[in-house]
Amino acid sequence: MEKEQTEQQPNFQLKADMEGNYLIDKEYKPKKQVGIFYAPSGGSVHKVARLLKQKLADFTPDLFVLSEVIPSTMLEYRTLVLVCSTLGRNTWEMEQKDPWSSFLPRMQRLRLQGRKVAIVGLGDHVSYPNNFVDGMGILADIVEKLGGRLIGETETRDYVFNDSRALRGEKFIGLPLDEDYEADKTEERINRWLKNILPELSD
Ligand SMILES: Cc1cc2nc3c(=O)[nH]c(=O)nc-3n(C[C@H](O)[C@H](O)[C@H](O)COP(=O)(O)O)c2cc1C
Repeated sequence: MEKEQTEQQPNFQLKADMEGNYLIDKEYKPKKQVGIFYAPSGGSVHKVARLLKQKLADFTPDLFVLSEVIPSTMLEYRTLVLVCSTLGRNTWEMEQKDPWSSFLPRMQRLRLQGRKVAIVGLGDHVSYPNNFVDGMGILADIVEKLGGRLIGETETRDYVFNDSRALRGEKFIGLPLDEDYEADKTEERINRWLKNILPELSD
């Protein structure tokens, strides 16, 4: 079984202000190219995260499950690929069942300026057409608030749904995937999406 990264300390000088916010040197350019962060483990999100790691092999990405990592590890990477799902309308803000919900408050102390962030959101367009991949939209709002630059938007024409918090204008802010009802489309969707973001990963 593939060995995944476990919790580790950042390898660069990291300071914190009086409120505990992480401060990094503006000139600092992270040495590592791509970090993939996912949760939960053991289901479709995990499967997709592994597939992304394989497909991004040229960038030697590190793969982290949220439960085994501290938020500041994200600062070591120039590009972050965040893989999440949506588990009910209120889960992220209220019920705290999704591992991302408990990670987000700790992530709030990060400054993501200079980081590119690509989000992959899993959902189910048949059972939840009114909240399709909402989690991806909620995560995107937080990433932007922290100064991260979102990359990898996706046209909606390949998807059937009524509404989604992951929409910005006419497009999804990241890549929606439906492993429940459209698993056969996953690989092709990932391939197309990666082709679009590859130029962003190379600098
Ligand atoms: C209780 C529950 C609530 C869900 N709510 C939503 C939802 O609001 N929107 C959506 O697109 N998918 C929703 N889904 C579908 C999941 O996001 C989808 O099955 C995802 O692939 C699960 O990933 P996992 O296997 O890694 O947990 C829900 C699934 C469950 C079990």
